Amino acid sequence: MAATLAELQSMDLSLVEDARSLAGHDYGPITPLLNDDSISEVMVNGPSQVYIERNGQLIQAEVAFAGEEELVRVIREIAAFVGRRVDDDSPMVDARLPDGSRVNAIIPPLALDGASLTIRKFSRDPYTVADLVSFGTLTAEAAAFLEACVRARFNVLVSGGTGSGKTTTLNVLSSFIPDNERVVTIEDAAELQLRQPHKVRLESRPARIDGTGRITIRDLVVNSLRMRPDRIVIGECRSGEALDMLQAMNTGHDGSLTTIHANSPRDTLARLETLVLMSGVDLPQRAIREQIASAIQLIVQQSRLRDGSRRITNVTEIVGREGDTITLQDVFLFEETGLDGNGRITGKLNPTGIRPNAMARIYSKRIPIAPALSALYPDRKAPDFTVGVRR
Ligand SMILES: Nc1ncnc2c1ncn2[C@@H]1O[C@H](COP(=O)(O)OP(=O)(O)O)[C@@H](O)[C@H]1O
Ligand SMILES: [Mg+2]
Repeated sequence: MAATLAELQSMDLSLVEDARSLAGHDYGPITPLLNDDSISEVMVNGPSQVYIERNGQLIQAEVAFAGEEELVRVIREIAAFVGRRVDDDSPMVDARLPDGSRVNAIIPPLALDGASLTIRKFSRDPYTVADLVSFGTLTAEAAAFLEACVRARFNVLVSGGTGSGKTTTLNVLSSFIPDNERVVTIEDAAELQLRQPHKVRLESRPARIDGTGRITIRDLVVNSLRMRPDRIVIGECRSGEALDMLQAMNTGHDGSLTTIHANSPRDTLARLETLVLMSGVDLPQRAIREQIASAIQLIVQQSRLRDGSRRITNVTEIVGREGDTITLQDVFLFEETGLDGNGRITGKLNPTGIRPNAMARIYSKRIPIAPALSALYPDRKAPDFTVGVRR
């Protein structure tokens, strides 16, 4: 007999979720790890080594498969869940589950030490700006500054190494986009979780086995410009799409956000230059730097520190050019103060004391800002601005 609406509504929602995620199924020794919401990533390096990530820390889990055979069987079952197979002819699988989790599996002979399985679980409850502040990734003042910058439509680059928390920070920055704007997101593997109602999510596609059918991030960036976006959010810029993105940013699609793989704000500029060259368009270096300097206003540098914590280390403005050199100015910098009793790095993302150029535009656009931010950088044009004025 069919369930009534009331029965459906009173059903345990986790059962409904099970149909979309790996949780609730039996996948051998990793089953409890998949069911545990506090674990964000499960990494299997051959049958006897399983690592997990929990609260940002990488730790070895005390589970093992009976042997290679059991591991490959589990991999095949997971692949079958998304309608894929894993065998000699297709020894690699990269797939998104219906719940948004990512699965990657690769078996011997490509994987040398036994089959490998990596599952990045989709967090049902993505980190918010308040979470990042409570983790110490940034301070409330820096968060207020970034919020104002996003609302004032600055183009922002989040830069960092793999696993440094770029996508998470990008998601938080995207949450500052006002609800009445149309957002197009472009990603290789959809990870962003925007809460805005008016959005279009695009995901690139790798080539089929015969080499056809590939749709790149770049194709999607070009297409997105015809979709009347107010903002374009690109999950990660790692190739020639950098040029199209800069051009878009320079032609009225301001307020766009993306991430890039680089280790310092200065390195970010060099990396961006390299990516623009990958577009195949032959531009002189000077012209590329001009494009970069006029397109990007802010770099948010993120790092995974040696204690495993993710911190924003620099909030840096691009202030202009001197000859061929792009000039940068740090407005917030992470200052390490030592270690606590648990070996965790202490310190915080402090204002450098330099007033951001951004504040002039934030005030002139009348962007509402948090009191913590106006206390840090008062509005110099406000009628009641009297600091330092003698009467
Ligand atoms: N600020 C943070 N504090 C603690 N953990 C974080 C933070 N940002 C991200 N994480 C965790 O770190 C892992 C990698 O984050 P992600 O944003 O995907 O990094 P990236 O995009 O740089 O590879 C995820 O498991 C995520 O939940
Ligand atoms: Mg990422």
